[in-house]
Amino acid sequence: MKKLDHTVLVIFGSTGDLARRKLLPALFHLEKAGELPEGFRVIAVSRRGTTVEDIILLIRTHVLKSKDDEQILTALHDRTSVLDMEIDKPEQYTRLASALENLEVDAGHLMNHLFYLAIPALLFDTVINRLGQPDINVHKPGKQESRFLIEKPFGFSLESAKNLITMLGKCFEPSQIYRIDHYLAKETAQNILAFRFENPLFCGAWNKEHISHIMITAIESIGIEGRTAFYDSMGAMRDLIQSHLLQLLALVTMKKPASMTEADIHREKEAILSRIRPPKPENISEETVRGQYRTYRTETGKPDSMTETFAAIRLSIDDENWQGVPVFIRTGKALAEKITEVTIVFSDPCKPDRNNLLTIRIQPNEGIAIDLRIKKPGFDTGFEDVQLDFCYTGSTIADHPEAYERVLVDAMRGDRTLFASDAEVLSCWEITEPVLEAWKKPNFPMHWYELGSWGPQAAEQLVQKEGIVWLTDAHTLCTPPHKKLSH
Ligand code: BG6
Repeated sequence: MKKLDHTVLVIFGSTGDLARRKLLPALFHLEKAGELPEGFRVIAVSRRGTTVEDIILLIRTHVLKSKDDEQILTALHDRTSVLDMEIDKPEQYTRLASALENLEVDAGHLMNHLFYLAIPALLFDTVINRLGQPDINVHKPGKQESRFLIEKPFGFSLESAKNLITMLGKCFEPSQIYRIDHYLAKETAQNILAFRFENPLFCGAWNKEHISHIMITAIESIGIEGRTAFYDSMGAMRDLIQSHLLQLLALVTMKKPASMTEADIHREKEAILSRIRPPKPENISEETVRGQYRTYRTETGKPDSMTETFAAIRLSIDDENWQGVPVFIRTGKALAEKITEVTIVFSDPCKPDRNNLLTIRIQPNEGIAIDLRIKKPGFDTGFEDVQLDFCYTGSTIADHPEAYERVLVDAMRGDRTLFASDAEVLSCWEITEPVLEAWKKPNFPMHWYELGSWGPQAAEQLVQKEGIVWLTDAHTLCTPPHKKLSH
């Protein structure tokens, strides 16, 4: 692994939901694994009189498992300082510039500045413009660089994403921008390309001649967990499909890159994303479903909210390899289980009732399973269904880094492969925007569903119309063959 440069991580939104749930625990695990470079420092920007102890308490609540972990928290405490600052006041940034300079004077060497931005969209203008000024923004590649880690959603619509790109382009070089999509940094998502392109068995069969359809399920048992302000303006389509799930689809359907380098991988992902099509306007009501869990309005105190907590969509891909292969995506909150999976359905056009399913379990029970039919052992000539199952559990998964650990390490070493490019983000908006526009119409149906269910019936009908059912393999648990569940 490339040596990590001396880095100071500046966290904007240090007490926010994402920092608490993902970023701060990731720092803890990196510290525990000894992956943080010696001089690594953290500046938590806050305006609420937050102290270093408060930050450590946030981490402790999420991760503390044993007494030994106290040592790790102490080490993190020593690396961290808090800068009390109102981020919407440009004049206060001179204090940030001095804090960065002081750290370097103390360390006796230059440091890269890694800015983690998990802030509301309405603050972006001020923060970006101020961070872009020369007292903070340094760009001397190989010596000292400011890098900007930007949380999704990247914009709220196609137009706002374009504006954001223009705004960032005025202040920073493209190589300084790291658009986080933490699904790309999940070990199992990274494995998709290795699995597809390192196994000749699949190379020739990964196309419309052999695959009848693709399904992506990303459902969650948690609700919106108090994130009303964020979620009610976002909804499931923007929160999961526009970013994480279209990125997964790109990994599943892109052509083989000329090499596994950052530039070649992005080139192919951009190419396929530009060919993914939403339903035609006249079919949107037939080929999409939006739903909301029954208690959402009372929980959020928004009695008229039309924000979807469930979304399902049928997509097509206008590409020589994928013509005629539908893609079905569903996602939702407050459902029966937490499952993220991609299912590739291989079919035999001569025997349409027979197929082989290849399931990539992104989480939980991370692994890959292939359903096969074999002869039933014994004197009879009957068949039975079995599974070839590769499961990370008990092998390498325990050692692999969590997505946000990978995000931080890659940003520290200046590798943007697992981050989303401008063109990818814009294509994802092009795909989702027509649907979001149609959903704004007052008479577009909203399907209500029960907490802990598998979502609205309409989502079942969406696929049943094409003679198929949603599949999930989540219960395989890496034990001997299980029957595929249909929900
Ligand atoms: C985030 C969404 O990007 O991803 C959340 O904003 C969602 O709403 C989360 O819960 C899911 O991530 P993971 O890694 O837990 O599947």
